[in-house]
Amino acid sequence: MDVAQAKNICVDESEKNIDDQMEEILASYTGTKDELISMLQKVQVRFGYLPESAMECIARFLKVPESTVFGVATFYAQFKLVPTGRNIIKVCRGTACHVRGGARILSHIKKTLGITPGQTTPDREYTLETVACIGACALAPTMVTNDETHGQMTTKKVDELFKSSDEGEDA
Ligand code: FES
Repeated sequence: MDVAQAKNICVDESEKNIDDQMEEILASYTGTKDELISMLQKVQVRFGYLPESAMECIARFLKVPESTVFGVATFYAQFKLVPTGRNIIKVCRGTACHVRGGARILSHIKKTLGITPGQTTPDREYTLETVACIGACALAPTMVTNDETHGQMTTKKVDELFKSSDEGEDA
């Protein structure tokens, strides 16, 4: 399918910026149902989550009910249905971290950011998540900011991390 054909699939959408990009994404597919997961992955890489209009567009492209696309998107944990923040904070909730004060770290971050796990700050700066174990139990309690692992966390170290992150932005 070429770009012009893909464009016709999305003409009804109001979110034009997303539509323009969907044309580009869908143009590399033939329109078979087994391409659905790959399409969703590409959309998520592009937008950081799966916008509703993008999923509707895929449904029309594949000629399947929207519920089919939403069903797949909600089944797999890898897919995010809401926008994430520029920084992803993951706090470990595994046993090793728990016994070494992980709950206190999580509670402090929740209070500092004013959000709970699964939420994003209104300015879309931070998304807070929890994980079962990040595989660095010897460093418990641990947390990850984007791809960087931080061990032996204390509330003071959390404050320093956020402070340095804010200063990095101001620079
Ligand atoms: S339990 Fe937290 S890193 Fe393994």
